[in-house]
Formats: sequence, structure tokens, C-alpha cells
Amino acid sequence: MKIQPLLLGLWILPELFFGLCYTASFNDFAFPDDSSVVFTYNRSPEIEHQCRTFLSSPLELKLYDDLGFQLKNELSFFNGDWEQEIGGAPIVPFDDSDMPMDSSSLTSPWRLVSFEVKDVNPVHLSQNTVSLRGVLTIGISRNSTFLSDSASNFHMRPGMSALRVDFEGVYIEREENGGERLACLLGNSTLPIRRDDDHVSNMENNFDMTYKREPQLMQNDQILLVLRYPKVFNLTQRAIRGEMRSLTERGNFEYFDNIYISAQLGGHTNYQFSSEQLMSKTCDTTPLEDEMVEDSVNMFESSEICHVLKRFTKEFYSIAPNLKLSGSGRDDHSNRLGPFLLGRDIKAVDRSYKNFRLVMQNVRCEQENLENKSSDARVSAVLRLYPATMDGYVAAVRSGLSGMTLSVEGTWNSSKGQLCMVGCLGVLGSGYDSRITMYFPRSLSNKQRSIISGSITSIKTGIDSDPPILFGAVMRFPNLWFDHSWYCKSFLSYNYSMTALASAFKERSQPSKLITTVRQLLLTYPAMEDREELIGRLDFLAHDLYIGAFIGPNLLGYGHMPETFVQINVLSLGPLLGRYDHLVYRDGSLVGAPADISKSAALNVSLDLVFIEAPIKLREKSYNHVEKLYLEGLYDPLAGEMYLIGCRKVVVESVNVERGLDCLIDVKIEYSSETTRWLINPTATITITSQRNESDLLYFSPISLQTFMIHDRKHAEHVLFRKIFEGALRILLQSVSVALILSQFSYMKKNSEVIPYVSLVMLALQIFLYSYTLINNSEILFKSSESNSYKKRAYSFVEYQTFLKVLDYTGKLLVLAALILTTRLFKLVLKSRRLLIARGVSKSRRVPNDVRVLLVTLAVQSCWLMFTRLIQFGEMLNLGKDPITLHGYVQQIWTLKLAIYFRMVQDFVPLPQIIANRLWKTRVINPVRKAYIHGFLMITLLLIFYDNVRDRVDYPV
Ligand SMILES: *[C@@H]1O[C@H](CO)[C@@H](O)[C@H](O)[C@H]1NC(C)=O
Ligand SMILES: *[C@@H]1O[C@H](CO)[C@@H](O)[C@H](O)[C@H]1NC(C)=O
Ligand SMILES: *[C@@H]1O[C@H](CO)[C@@H](O)[C@H](O)[C@H]1NC(C)=O
Ligand SMILES: *[C@@H]1O[C@H](CO)[C@@H](O)[C@H](O)[C@H]1NC(C)=O
Repeated sequence: MKIQPLLLGLWILPELFFGLCYTASFNDFAFPDDSSVVFTYNRSPEIEHQCRTFLSSPLELKLYDDLGFQLKNELSFFNGDWEQEIGGAPIVPFDDSDMPMDSSSLTSPWRLVSFEVKDVNPVHLSQNTVSLRGVLTIGISRNSTFLSDSASNFHMRPGMSALRVDFEGVYIEREENGGERLACLLGNSTLPIRRDDDHVSNMENNFDMTYKREPQLMQNDQILLVLRYPKVFNLTQRAIRGEMRSLTERGNFEYFDNIYISAQLGGHTNYQFSSEQLMSKTCDTTPLEDEMVEDSVNMFESSEICHVLKRFTKEFYSIAPNLKLSGSGRDDHSNRLGPFLLGRDIKAVDRSYKNFRLVMQNVRCEQENLENKSSDARVSAVLRLYPATMDGYVAAVRSGLSGMTLSVEGTWNSSKGQLCMVGCLGVLGSGYDSRITMYFPRSLSNKQRSIISGSITSIKTGIDSDPPILFGAVMRFPNLWFDHSWYCKSFLSYNYSMTALASAFKERSQPSKLITTVRQLLLTYPAMEDREELIGRLDFLAHDLYIGAFIGPNLLGYGHMPETFVQINVLSLGPLLGRYDHLVYRDGSLVGAPADISKSAALNVSLDLVFIEAPIKLREKSYNHVEKLYLEGLYDPLAGEMYLIGCRKVVVESVNVERGLDCLIDVKIEYSSETTRWLINPTATITITSQRNESDLLYFSPISLQTFMIHDRKHAEHVLFRKIFEGALRILLQSVSVALILSQFSYMKKNSEVIPYVSLVMLALQIFLYSYTLINNSEILFKSSESNSYKKRAYSFVEYQTFLKVLDYTGKLLVLAALILTTRLFKLVLKSRRLLIARGVSKSRRVPNDVRVLLVTLAVQSCWLMFTRLIQFGEMLNLGKDPITLHGYVQQIWTLKLAIYFRMVQDFVPLPQIIANRLWKTRVINPVRKAYIHGFLMITLLLIFYDNVRDRVDYPV
């Protein structure tokens, strides 16, 4: 398999740019450069005195042009570790008020140190020495390595303290310790000092206690720093070590306890690989043999492996106990995690190790034999363990060596597809106690989603052997999509092995034939669209199947945020793995894909499901036990349903647990239909059931949940459609109203005796209704329903704006027509009643009086208002939440009351007439046409129905 030259080029270039010069970058724990500084050398006599033990026997130093540049690169280091002797005189205070006191943080903050050579002076102190000036930054930080303040030598804010010390000194090379390079320097800085009125008892724990007061600074130039660099860096000599101590008397304010520094070799020092025989003793058998067969491995050539490894340097590996080898896993109280020695900082380790991650740094990779392309490669690196709560990118730039680091070195066997290494722990790697095996799986499956898998086992045997662990870089969103599509295309495939099980599950949960048929006829669900390329179609569908939404009871109206978020990402869909990257899939090819897939065919699919829960949960139940699931199965685009087999990580050996996964889980995901999405927001229903017996340790009770609104690619289209639909509906219904009024006209013309018996209250209310609508300039008949957040965010249907306006105005014109017609009706009724009075009253033909009608109508309306008050109350509360002035508030209440009254009048247009008919016991049976009453009732019912069916227009979160 050849990597495409284009791809290689793409990622080699940045490496060249970034690697050339080793200067402080954004990610380094170092004060920013102050370019105004002029470097002077005026402490030679003092240096000669303090460094005399080293100056007695320097090796001959070869001077050449680039020496200064080289020394700057090779002697500088960043983000190293430091420790201080505990003697009650810490060097920097730390303010930990950034963390809540009862926080469950796993670790203490880091102690970081950087040293940067600023100037190398050819004028040397004595024979075989070179003078230099450098700056050391030392401090404590919670989770950042970025310092922005260059004004002062000392920098302190909650969660971060840093001190800068300027040094002047000499560089020499010596024979000791198998060849050593050494810098002996004297420092000058302003040290933060403790005042007597601070509580001394708090200080014993090296300032870790809360220390909120800004300390006083005191000038001090009695600081000695000795840094030792091995002449040759190799597996056992990987560390730069240093010691800094105060030359002032103990007891002085400026005195501090001795400090020990460790850091790794910089990016540009030479590394010497060990001899062959050291390596050969380890890799005859591998603990991952079964897995390697199952996953099939990528057999990179040496040129490829180096690039792949370096490319994955920034990946974070999750770790797990190797239950197959160790049986029960580790005991909770041990301070070892695999070979790693957890420092005193680490407070808690759980059995699944999910609180920890591993990162590979400082990868050196060399092709063993350049002429023979298929030969093996030599690899060296450092594996660093860090708590998952820490920022991984910051962990990756740390360079100190400690019990949490494993220096590793070994060879890549291209014919086996396996990287086999030995590792030694910490600074003084005395022995090679660990064996590290890594391979690059070719195929992903429900049981394995890693692009890199590895194992760490102990070389020692017996009781003092370390518990074995497994590690892997899991392929998941978003790195899969954005960083590694090149790798997906060339080196990965998905191996669907659950299809049969998923089909059986699908058969089992099939609804009745009738429902299926009706569904297929009426509703559509997310499916492939008509596009040219198969790969593009699959990619769009994969996008449509993404779910990222809150779940749980909808208490938003009461001001509570939901507490659980669920995220489901499509890993592969049919032949497409990852996402469609135009650059990578330029030729449009998909390996092993059929020529075409029909739109309605069930598709193989694989996904990951993750529940993200609020740190403190008040109401909802926890989904911790199914927090992360690997899913694989079938998607049926005709029903919008996925039938999936899920696997979750477990830390117990049990029946049917393979590779630490419990895969006896059925998961069904149902997407809501696309047909109704313009009216009802799309959601998904997720059901998770364990297939185990209730007596089984790994059984859990079924979970069924519905999401809030999910993402919808065609959301804007749907909103527009709804707007047009509602405009048209308004016009239609208002036309019906106008038609009803007109028909009442002709009815009254034909039967003039009914005219006086038409209720004036009804007509007056209608006039009020229409005038109110026009004066208010509000939407007629019903309001469009949009959430506040939707209204606030800008959306535009610019091209449709005119059309929507036309719809709106047409509706209002119809309201105007209705207003004029009703007013004429009103006049007509008034006139005919006057005529009746003029003709005189007779017993049989009393003039109807509307006063009682009005009273009864008001009474009925009041009762109704009281009744609905409860319902409106919630709405009022919501309105009340906006910050408004008292005046505004009163106004708002009145507007609201008026609006409610308006709604009610609209809903019961014929009510006064019905009351009037009752009260007057008129002999005229129908003063108002039946169709008039029924028509308005129908409109009301339709509006209520529509309002209850539709969802608020909203954005998914
Ligand atoms: C650093 O830690 C604090 C406290 O835990 C946290 O609020 C902050 O977001 C973290 N910063 C980063 C960059 O992770
Ligand atoms: C130390 O620094 C201060 C302030 O920059 C300076 O006044 C003093 O002379 C320096 N001491 C030595 C020994 O260089
Ligand atoms: C590393 O170098 C030192 C000094 O040259 C040597 O003593 C040691 O054996 C080397 N280690 C390995 C693993 O080769
Ligand atoms: C190159 O590799 C082949 C096997 O792939 C081997 O037979 C041959 O001896 C190697 N040549 C050299 C110079 O190492």
C-alpha cells in the first residue's frame, strides 16, 4: 500500500516549518521576550568562584560559527518538571482559589519550568568555556502553559504563579557520567517573600495552601543553577537534569529550599538508538496476537510508519486494564497504574482507568536501511500518563520525566505490522521493565474502534511485575472527520459483523403490515437524495442522521435547563467511512463500494453514542452505565429506524464479554418523519435494552428516551414553507369569514323579518375584533409561533420577503372588507330596530334588547377567563421574566389581557347570538343563518387544532 505522494507532502511541510528553530512558542511556559534587553557579562569573578568544581577539568571545546545558534537550540527546554526539598521555604506561592474548595479534582497543579538561552558570548571566561545568558521561568500552573505578562519578574493569578530569573554563566563539556555538557549559572531576580504575619503553619506544604495575598518582592542575585545535559541522548539517558539553590543563608527572607529540575531532550539534539541485541529479547510473542488477527494490521513500510507515527503524536490514547492477562484488574489502593507510578498528586484511580489518558511525545523515527525500502524502522518516544481532567494539548507539551512517563524505544517490523518496544520509567531509567507492543488495525468493527492499539506488559515476572494495560486511540468525532480522513481512505475500512443480528432485531420489532404500508405511502424519512456521486449522497445522509440534543423532561418553562445531552455520530454508512473530504476523495472513489445503492435499501451503519451529563444532577436519572456505546446495525430509510447492536466497556469478566466489551445490548433509534418537519420539530427516540437475564451482573433496566429538537439540514426551507402555509391559511379562513358575512347579507335581504333579531353585541364584538387586528397591525387570526431565540437570531428569506408581505396584506385587506361589511350589518340591524320602535310595540313583536345579552355574554366570558387563567398564568410568568420597568410591566399586563380577551372573542364569535336566541325566545327561528354560526365555529375549531399540532419554530441546540 502506497501513501499518495500528495498526502505525504501535505503533512511533511508543516513539520519542516515548525521544527527548524527551537524558540518559545505560545504553548511554552516562558515569559514573553523582552527585546530591549542588552546582554552584559559582568559577574565573571563570582561565576569563577561558584562554578570552580566544574571549571577544573573541562574538555577541549571546539569552536565553530554555528556554535551559538546550536547551543541556543540544544540547551533550551520548555515545560519541564521541578520539585523542591521540603524545608519550609518554598520558592513561589500559589493561589488555588480558582478551584472550588470541595472540588473533586484528581490532581494537584503542575510544577513547570523552562529555560531559554538568550545569548551566547564568544568572549569566554577561561580556556574551553563559553559564556551565556539565559532566562529560567519556574512556577505552578493548573492547566495552562501560557504566560502573557512580561512587565514583572513575578506573575500570580488564581491557578497560576510564575517567576522569572535571569542567569549569566558558563557552558562547558566534561568527561564525567560518560560525557556530559554542563551549564553553571548565577541568577538575579526579585523573589516573592513571605512576611511574618502570614500564617507559618500554612506554609509547610510548599505554598499549596491558599495564599491569596500578593507577596512582597525582594531583589536577590545569590541563585546558583547547574544544568546537566548528557553528551549522547539514548533510551536510558533522555533527561536534562538541573539543580537550583539559594546561596543566601538559610533563615533569610530570600532563602529557598533546593530545587531539582528535569526535562526531556529538545527536538534537535541527536538521539542514539540502542544496540540490536537489547531489543531482540522482547518481541518473540505478543500479547495482542488474537486481536491482530481479528483486526488485520496495516503493514506500513519504514518510510510510511515514521510519518504515520508523527502524524498521530497529538492523539490521546485511552487506557484500560488488560483483563485477559491479569484477571481481576488492579486493586484500587495500589499507586501503580501499569508500569506508571502515580505521584503523590494523584488522589483517585478507578478500576476502569477512564480517568487517565496516555499521550506519545517526542517521537524519533529512523528508517533502518535507506537503500532497502521495505526494511524496518527504529522508533523512540516518551509515553506520558495524565489525568483526563487535564487539557490534553497542555499535557502533550510537558517535557519533564517522572514516574508518569515511560521512555520507549524499539523497532517496527513491517512484515508483521507490529511495533515492539522496551520502556523504562522516569528520569533515571535504570532498567527496561516494560514491553510495549503497538499495531495499526486495518479494520474497525463494533468491538474495536481504535486506529492504534497497544499493550504494555511487564518484562519482570512474579509478584513484582506491573499489572498489564491496554491502550488505544479511538477513532471518533471530530478527529475522524477533520484530521484523519486521509488515513480513513487509505488505511481503514469498516467490518460490519453485526448485520445478521441487526436483521433479526429488525424482524422482531417490525410493526404490523398495515402501519408499515401506511407509513410508506404517506411519510418519508431521511434517505439518500438524488445526487451524482454515491459518496456525496452517503455523506449527506450521514449528516442527516447525526443527533446532538438534550433529553429529559422539558422543564424549560420553569427555568430549568435539561441535564443530559446525547450525541450520536455516524462513523460509517454503507461503504463510506468517516466523512467525504473533497481533497482526499478527489477521484471520487470508494474502495469496495457497489456501483449504486438504491434509495430505499437498508444500509449498514456504525455509530458512537455518548451521553454528556451535567456535573451535578438534580432530577434526571444517570446514564453513566451506558455513557459510551459503540453501535452497529442497519438503517431502514423507509421507516426512519435504526436497529443496532451496542457494545459498552465493562471492567468485569463475564459471559459474552469479549475484549472488555458487553455487546448484548439492543439499541433502536427512530427518527421523526421528514414529511411533518415543517410543522413538528424533528426529534429522535432512543431505546436501549440489555439482552441479559435480570440476574446477570451486567443487566440494566431498559432505557427509553426522546430527544429535544434535533438538527435538520433543511430547517430553513421548512420554516419558509410554514410561513407561506400560514399566510395562505389566514387568507383562506378570512375569505371564508367574508363569505359567511356576505351570505348573511343575502339571507337578511330575503328574510327581512329576521333583521332586528340579529344580536348587536355579536356584531359589535366582531367590529372590535377586526379593528383591533388592523390597529395593532398584528398577524390576523393566529400568531406565528417562534421561540425567542429564533426571533433573536437573524434569519433571512430575503427573496421571499415581498411574497410574504403580499400574503400578509391580502389577509389584512380581507379583514378590512369584513370590518366594512359587519359595520353595514350593524347599521342595518339598528335601522330595522328603529323602524320596529316607530311602528309601535306589540306583544308578539317586542323589540329585542341587547343589554341582557351583553350582560350574559360578559358573565360567560368572565367564567371562561377565570377558567383559562390557570393556563395563561404560565405564559404570564414567562413574560414577566424579561427585565422590564414597572411601567412597561403594567403596559405588558394590559396588552396581554387585551390579547387574551381578543383571542376569546375570536374563538366565540357567534356566542352572543346564541345567547340572544335563548333570551329573546324569538319566534323567528333563525335570525342568523345556521351556516354563519357553524362556519365561525369551524374556523375556531380549526385554529385550535392547528395551534395544538404545530411546534414552536426553534433552533436545535
Ligand atoms: C483550567 O481549569 C479551570 C478550573 O478547573 C477551568 O475553569 C478552566 O476552564 C481550565 N482551562 C482550560 C484551558 O482547560
Ligand atoms: C540584579 O538586577 C538589578 C535590577 O535589574 C540590578 O540593579 C543589579 O545590579 C543586578 N545584580 C547583579 C549582580 O547583576
Ligand atoms: C546510553 O548512553 C550511556 C552513556 O554513553 C551508556 O552508558 C548507556 O549504556 C546507554 N544506554 C543504552 C540503552 O544504550
Ligand atoms: C532488503 O529486503 C529484502 C526483503 O524484503 C531482503 O531480502 C534483502 O536482503 C534486503 N537488503 C538489504 C540490503 O538489507
